[in-house]
Amino acid sequence: MATSSSHDQAPKIHVSQISALSFTQNLLERNGVPPENATIIARALVLADLRGVDTHGINRLPAYLLRLRNGLLDPLAQPTLHQITPVVAQVDGHNSFGFLSAHLGIEAGIEMAKTYGIGMVSVKHSNHFGMSAWIVQQALDADMMSLVFTNSSPALPVWGGKEKLMGVSPIACGAPGREGGRDFILDMAPSVAARGKIHKAKRRGEKIPFDWALDGDGERTDDPAKALEGVMLPMGGPKGSALAVMMDVFSGVLSGSNFAGEVRGPYDESGEADVGHFFVVLRPDLFMDLEAFRERMGILYDRVVGCERMKGVERIYFPGEIEQATHEERLKTGIPYVETEIGALNKEAELVGSKKIEVMP
Ligand SMILES: NC(=O)c1ccc[n+]([C@@H]2O[C@H](COP(=O)([O-])OP(=O)(O)OC[C@H]3O[C@@H](n4cnc5c(N)ncnc54)[C@H](O)[C@@H]3O)[C@@H](O)[C@H]2O)c1
Repeated sequence: MATSSSHDQAPKIHVSQISALSFTQNLLERNGVPPENATIIARALVLADLRGVDTHGINRLPAYLLRLRNGLLDPLAQPTLHQITPVVAQVDGHNSFGFLSAHLGIEAGIEMAKTYGIGMVSVKHSNHFGMSAWIVQQALDADMMSLVFTNSSPALPVWGGKEKLMGVSPIACGAPGREGGRDFILDMAPSVAARGKIHKAKRRGEKIPFDWALDGDGERTDDPAKALEGVMLPMGGPKGSALAVMMDVFSGVLSGSNFAGEVRGPYDESGEADVGHFFVVLRPDLFMDLEAFRERMGILYDRVVGCERMKGVERIYFPGEIEQATHEERLKTGIPYVETEIGALNKEAELVGSKKIEVMP
């Protein structure tokens, strides 16, 4: 699930949504990002933190800003859209923030789907876009279903291999739920756990479960630093590895972006990332009216969460439900960070004379 590992015991400092947004906005602007683009990036990062996907929230800023300072990510680049057919478009990210290409791409998909029922977008020359669910959410906000794919830097061996080749590239999709109820949001990396969870454990001085990764010698490890020197373990053996290949086919091979182990990760300073993405947006009222669709989703939800539980299971959740509940909770309580994370963010602020992050009393 999206919450952190069971070792996550460090005391927390809470930050409100508004403070997290304004801190991120200011910091990005001070680093040369135009205000309207900073807003898109800030919303995506803070939404990740609100949903409990704090592996892909504002703690990623130091790594993104380092790329920017090293000339590997262009703060001023603006993605462009090329309409290929009435229902197919291509975005060229021009090495801008992945958030901007993804925002433009899903927006174009939504517009095409409104007119033609479906919209398909391929994105090239992009960068890491964080948590896929924010893109799914953008489609859900327009009452649309979506598929959101991306490739990513090598972290996972293919089945039978021992070297990192495929990315732990997330597969995400969404569908509107019953009015006032839960939407369906699947957002999962094809590994046992997302690599961001290992970075987060390292940041927080925590151990990781032994089934997440192998160290550089191919041994199971609970040390996040050693795990980052080794490989992630695919979920479901060959099936997880095949899903990672699928993400590379649709996002990398098809788009013209890097693929087959060539994408560079957000922590890799050896060159531009050249990530590819692939989005499909679909109107849910193609075969019945939206109300009927939503009601059928409600029935599915009721049957899923209401089914007979295994011994020891207190509650069954719909995909995305834990994150939606965390979102509602964190809007009230604020987002919990640890001291070292706040320190790293304030250090970034100091570098460019931006305001420190405001914490809750
Ligand atoms: N941009 C990138 O390159 C990149 C790479 C890897 C991961 N990520 C992001 O990392 C995040 C975390 O990925 P992950 O694979 O660790 O996710 P996860 O394992 O936390 O969750 C995967 C999915 O399972 C569902 N789920 C989890 N626990 C559940 C439960 N008890 N009952 C019902 N459903 C449940 C979640 O709602 C989610 O849809 C994602 O947001 C992903 O987009 C991004």
